[in-house]
Amino acid sequence: MKIAIGSDHAGFPLKEEIRKYLEEKGIEYVDCGVYDASSADYPIQAKNTCEKIVSGECVRGILCCGTGIGISMAANKVKGIRAACCSDYFSAKYTRLHNDANVLCLGARVIGVGAALELVDVFLNTEFEGGRHQRRVDLITEIENG
Ligand code: RB5
Repeated sequence: MKIAIGSDHAGFPLKEEIRKYLEEKGIEYVDCGVYDASSADYPIQAKNTCEKIVSGECVRGILCCGTGIGISMAANKVKGIRAACCSDYFSAKYTRLHNDANVLCLGARVIGVGAALELVDVFLNTEFEGGRHQRRVDLITEIENG
């Protein structure tokens, strides 16, 4: 399972912790930037990271900004992306089980590193339930396709 990660400057410290976590776990990843804490515009990293998923190079993505909100808004504009901004364990688990979310967005100024890594762990290790939830995800795709 290859993961795409990205952040703006505010999310950079958390993205680096997630990068270390993925390395420790031996999970393959692509780091789509940023690569330092200089001011950056989060829609750019959101797009670059999400394109890795849409192209099939990566199966899931993790994005960080200050709140997790701006970067999730940008990610959800990319066709085929279902990004969930989460700051609690239950939501990170159920957005996989019920929404088949393919991108987890985290707010580096909202939650601590320990909690964030728990969310990453459950997000990466929970499979979509399918069934009636597939129909609902398909309806989201219908909206996306106009
Ligand atoms: C950057 O200051 C901040 O606005 C950004 O990281 C994010 O929180 C936007 O939603």
